[in-house]
Amino acid sequence: MKFTAITGLILALCTTASVAQQTAKPLLFAEKQTDVLLQKTAETKASSLKANLFSPRSLNPDSSLNLVAPNDWCAGFFAGNLWQLYEYSGDPKWMGQAKVFTRIMEGEKTNGGTHDLGFMMYCSVGNAYRLTHDAHYKEIIIEAAKTLSTRFNPIVGCIKSWDNTKWKYPVIIDNMMNLELLFEATKLSGDSSFYKIAVTHANTTMKNHYRADYSSYHVVDYDPGTGKVLHKQTAQGYSDESAWARGQAWGLYGFTMCYRETGNKIYLKQAENIANFILNNPNLPKDLVPYWDYNDPAIPNVPRDASAAAIMASALYELSTYSFNGKIYKAIADKILNSLNNNYQAPLGADKGFLLLHSTGHKPAGSEIDVPIIYADYYYLEALLRQKHLKQGKPVLNTAGVVKY
Ligand code: GLY
Repeated sequence: MKFTAITGLILALCTTASVAQQTAKPLLFAEKQTDVLLQKTAETKASSLKANLFSPRSLNPDSSLNLVAPNDWCAGFFAGNLWQLYEYSGDPKWMGQAKVFTRIMEGEKTNGGTHDLGFMMYCSVGNAYRLTHDAHYKEIIIEAAKTLSTRFNPIVGCIKSWDNTKWKYPVIIDNMMNLELLFEATKLSGDSSFYKIAVTHANTTMKNHYRADYSSYHVVDYDPGTGKVLHKQTAQGYSDESAWARGQAWGLYGFTMCYRETGNKIYLKQAENIANFILNNPNLPKDLVPYWDYNDPAIPNVPRDASAAAIMASALYELSTYSFNGKIYKAIADKILNSLNNNYQAPLGADKGFLLLHSTGHKPAGSEIDVPIIYADYYYLEALLRQKHLKQGKPVLNTAGVVKY
């Protein structure tokens, strides 16, 4: 694997000592800031006419808080943030709040209308089970996996992403993230059908979503009757042939997770190749927080996507524990977190209590451009915890339950 001068510089600059000093502060900031988000969420909910809006997603153009209903793809992230703060602090206050927001998500376990059930249920209920081992949550994870499996078509070899008329059987790269729910459900239930669906989806995605340079298309549309690829396009990127930044990050995270769950080296190689594409991209800025799309010709005068950076950092910490390039990946993840900590955090008490500024949701639709978005905060917290675990010589993923620091 080749690395450019930028990665060499990062290795030289990131010492263990500097990272150690920088780990605690952002997590303490996250606790204080999340108190604000809880309060703003309660105030906004109280003044809303729609009773089902409950979970913070982003800021509206008028800077008001955008709350979403449980069936929104972003509805489970805030519960996940609260669980992660409980994981960090051991403070029962966070568990109490996490349970409240998770409870509201539980009804979505039978929502077969979305491929995002993995995001919705695994970030909320999945974290709840990981940190409490409560059997109640286990049953919900299995039920949600059964529901997600109904969207799998064995002829295509993928879970269907969207139900719309623009495409026949669209599969988006983001969908790699929903496979973690399926892997977990097989471990919890002993039913291998979830595992088989996850592996088949990953293999089909590896075959059809990736270009020779290991950048990914956003959408691949299939003929559901034959499995033939009909179109390779974008929905949220600059163009069909461009590399949408968050899509590249989803793929990096997704294939790293598939390697963890299967031990199959083809997924490790895929994750390394995706990392190589991202980290050697000439349009990756020096602070390693990508522009929203690597191929927007207006770079550098385009918005960043801090969410892509947070997802990349979290994925790279995990990948660092599997790969021969581990030291480099860890140093790069540290560098990304340094950038986010120092230049992308919201001021304490501001921006309704979100943690990170400067994410881009759906630029072509003109929606959520250069704003705080809840999934950026979720993967930022996850990356901070992974950094902390590695610093303490612990496994990158805490599956042992709550650890008091
Ligand atoms: N899964 C949708 C997104 O990443 O925006």
